[in-house]
Amino acid sequence: MNKSERALIKDIVNKENEVVELMGWVGARRDHGKIIFIDLRDRSGLAQLVFVPNNKEVYESANKLRNEWVIKVLGKIAKRPKGMENAELLTGLLEVQVETLDILNEAENLPIDVYSDGRDIGEDVRMKYRYLDLRRPRLNSNLKNRAKIINFFRDFLVKKDFVEIETPVISKSTPEGARDYLVPSRLQPGKFYALPQSPQQYKQLLMVAGLERYFQVAKCFRDEDSRGDRQPEFTQLDLEMSFVKREDVMSIIENMLVDMVKALYPEKKVQQIPFPRISYKEAVENYGSDRPDLRKKNSPAGEDPNELAFCWVIDFPFFEKTEDGNWTFTHNPFSAPIPEHIDDLMNKKNIGEILTTQYDVVLNGFEIGGGSIRNHKPEALEKVFEILGHEKEKIQANFGHMLEAFKYGAPPHGGIALGLDRIFAILFNEPNIREVMAFPKTGDARDLMMDAPSVVDKKQLDELGIKIIKEK
Ligand code: AMO
Repeated sequence: MNKSERALIKDIVNKENEVVELMGWVGARRDHGKIIFIDLRDRSGLAQLVFVPNNKEVYESANKLRNEWVIKVLGKIAKRPKGMENAELLTGLLEVQVETLDILNEAENLPIDVYSDGRDIGEDVRMKYRYLDLRRPRLNSNLKNRAKIINFFRDFLVKKDFVEIETPVISKSTPEGARDYLVPSRLQPGKFYALPQSPQQYKQLLMVAGLERYFQVAKCFRDEDSRGDRQPEFTQLDLEMSFVKREDVMSIIENMLVDMVKALYPEKKVQQIPFPRISYKEAVENYGSDRPDLRKKNSPAGEDPNELAFCWVIDFPFFEKTEDGNWTFTHNPFSAPIPEHIDDLMNKKNIGEILTTQYDVVLNGFEIGGGSIRNHKPEALEKVFEILGHEKEKIQANFGHMLEAFKYGAPPHGGIALGLDRIFAILFNEPNIREVMAFPKTGDARDLMMDAPSVVDKKQLDELGIKIIKEK
């Protein structure tokens, strides 16, 4: 079989006077007198195709071309005539004088415009035709830039001796404070798995397993109402380290974020390095929020897209009172208190004043990550659950595996998870994390393209022993 000789559009700049084969989509078409000009688009860029009437057969077939048809051409790369250059285009000094044209696929009229930035197109129709929506240059480049940043983080962490480890998606409910997505079990009727709200317990168990430095680009699932910065399914850069203090985790993350901005977004400016550290109390008192926006306020938000104001918020209260007067955790039940407050935890004293080792990283007013040093001693973890009012059997049923694991030589450990979608939205100047995800859900958690969630066959439900009760 002959290998395809396809060239990429971006490479034609080095191929003047050569005949090349290009494949891609038909973009804008302009007719000037008898000459047809077509923008051909592939993953690497745009090139101008030229069809002249004396190449009769090709010309007639070019006449039929419509937007978004998929074609293959063979043509000679030549300088554009003087005055016809387009300085904004990488290939703008050149044109492709088409010699042969193959139509690989026709396209019906598209239900949405895919050349504009799409911001004024209704969300429903964009989501229904997401595969077309993603053709628009803005979204196409969001996805590519997303991948570049993830690759940067991955490289950075691998160089620092972190091991990338996948943890299960069908698992047991972990208490991160949101509602779980449940998955019914066929083989254990009446029992359910839960999709992970984060890999929290697994990553801690990997520390018990002696891995010492773990990371994962992890899908997390939380059945909560969507917002601009919240999706039911989102991606964390999750990591955990053994034998570390709060400072160690914070400094790795800080260096990674700063290096990434310098390498990939040199036009952006990190306002202050090291990132300022603000206690929860200061944040609330001085900024009225535990995720303060420290951008210089002389420019209204949004008008200065290159300003990146990171900060750390630390010293959160460990527990807070619920409406019914019980204690609940503010962040993560697995966190350790700050060292000065461990005695109070062990004696269950001054509960409301106990501070956790939790650290949140905030960017331009958005919480882009959070983590803590953990309670690696089973006695201390048990105290947390006692304060939360969990009954002994319940503690055993929910966390017995963690308490037991910690009895077999658990190292001190701590970690953090970054909310990648939020970081991308801020860096790409997008107002909503949907714009940086390939296939996000709508505000009411639907996938309009796949039509999910959807009803399933009765047979599937029977196998699971599930009966749907219709509300009257
Ligand atoms: P936390 O729950 O704070 O911590 O989550 C970490 C970061 O994930 C992002 N995030 C979200 N992004 C989009 N949509 C959501 N629904 C959503 N929920 C959270 C935020 C947040 O800061 N296991 C702990 C981490 C740890 O302690 O190591 C955890 O998940 O940017």
